Amino acid sequence: MRTSWSFRSAGQLVFGRGAASQIGTLARRIKLSRLFLVTDQRLASAGLVERVVVSLADAGIQVEVFQGGEPEPAVTTAIKAADLAAQFAPDGILGLGGGSNMDLAKIVAVLLAHGGQPAQYFGFDNVPGQVLPLVCVPTTAGTGSEVSHAAVLTDTANQIKVSTLSQYLRPALAVVDPAFTDGCPQKVTADSGIDALTHAIEAYTAIDFNQLDAQDGVPVAYEGRFPLGECLAEKAILLIGRHLVKAVQDGSNTAARDGMALGATIAGLAFSNCAVALVHALEYPIGGAVHVSHGAGNGLLLPYVMRYNLPVRSAAFANIAMLLGETCFGMSEDQMAERAIAAVERIRAAIGIPQRLRDLDVRREQLPALAEKAFAIKRLMGTNPRQPTQADLVEILNQAF
Ligand SMILES: NC(=O)c1ccc[n+]([C@@H]2O[C@H](COP(=O)([O-])OP(=O)(O)OC[C@H]3O[C@@H](n4cnc5c(N)ncnc54)[C@H](O)[C@@H]3O)[C@@H](O)[C@H]2O)c1
Ligand SMILES: [Fe+2]
Repeated sequence: MRTSWSFRSAGQLVFGRGAASQIGTLARRIKLSRLFLVTDQRLASAGLVERVVVSLADAGIQVEVFQGGEPEPAVTTAIKAADLAAQFAPDGILGLGGGSNMDLAKIVAVLLAHGGQPAQYFGFDNVPGQVLPLVCVPTTAGTGSEVSHAAVLTDTANQIKVSTLSQYLRPALAVVDPAFTDGCPQKVTADSGIDALTHAIEAYTAIDFNQLDAQDGVPVAYEGRFPLGECLAEKAILLIGRHLVKAVQDGSNTAARDGMALGATIAGLAFSNCAVALVHALEYPIGGAVHVSHGAGNGLLLPYVMRYNLPVRSAAFANIAMLLGETCFGMSEDQMAERAIAAVERIRAAIGIPQRLRDLDVRREQLPALAEKAFAIKRLMGTNPRQPTQADLVEILNQAF
């Protein structure tokens, strides 16, 4: 039983429209002079890579650009990027992109510092020490990877998403410039945006820190719900509720882009300290088995998992309803809690997230195997406020089918 909680973030977080022009000077200030930049071709075509390279060059920083990033990156891609990085011998790694490229950058930073294969670091706390300093610059709003301790790859052989979690994976520097999300395609805006909402809601409704099955002082992947995390999650839910649908419907709405960039980063601070839980656990095998983005998979599952958690998180759900702008005047707590689920379903529909697993070409006979894989991710079972059996997971997936 824990009686204390702790909180961590990136070493420095710089946020603001136009902040990207400072990347070079900020990186210099933390003594970086030779950066390996992990990104992808779409961001090069969008002109964002050039903007970062110019800022770095102006500060006298040498850069090698790797444009081989891909959505939901494979383990093999991380190995390839690390091999190229090793030849350049950088003193830091910069991840530019959505969660996919930032996570790739994190694994490259691990491999350059400690060698070996990505698989030996999967799970929590298997990175033995400091990694190469990481600079993360998100172009989606988003995963929160710029402040988080997580990196997610796809294990294509075993058809599952695999997480590496370590406090050493928190970037030394995160530069969040909402302008970098201005050109984010509509579908990516929707998918990554509802991922951020999922982070905030899972953090806000996680098991309480003092109920977590772990002793004080023992490092844990997630702390559970604690007051500072709750503050952050509330603010993130409010911002995302206010701005996500607008950002998807009109990508040129800069106020909505700014609100989402802030909401997603704050959601990253919330979940990477409190927790993610059942939604993410169920998404990892689904994302490994069928072609669906992490965000769309989470968005699909979120209301079904909320329904499962409702009996033990009624008060939190009632607050979520209000944060998402539902009119709850005169309602009981239980009625308000129901409205939270309705609000998430409304947002999900408005931004075009699929609503049923069958729409993703998941077959009903796959559900027990998917539940089994999700159930094996013990750390995410343990952070859920209601402890599920494997049969419960099959039932949730059946509901979502
Ligand atoms: N590390 C963490 O803490 C964490 C948290 C949640 C999710 N994730 C992982 O992050 C990945 C998903 O990341 P994501 O949702 O940010 O999407 P993404 O990084 O997979 O990007 C999706 C696509 O959008 C393109 N794109 C991104 N920004 C763009 C922009 N501004 N302009 C034009 N194109 C742009 C990318 O090039 C890519 O092709 C998944 O692998 C997921 O598991 C990681
Ligand atoms: Fe996520």
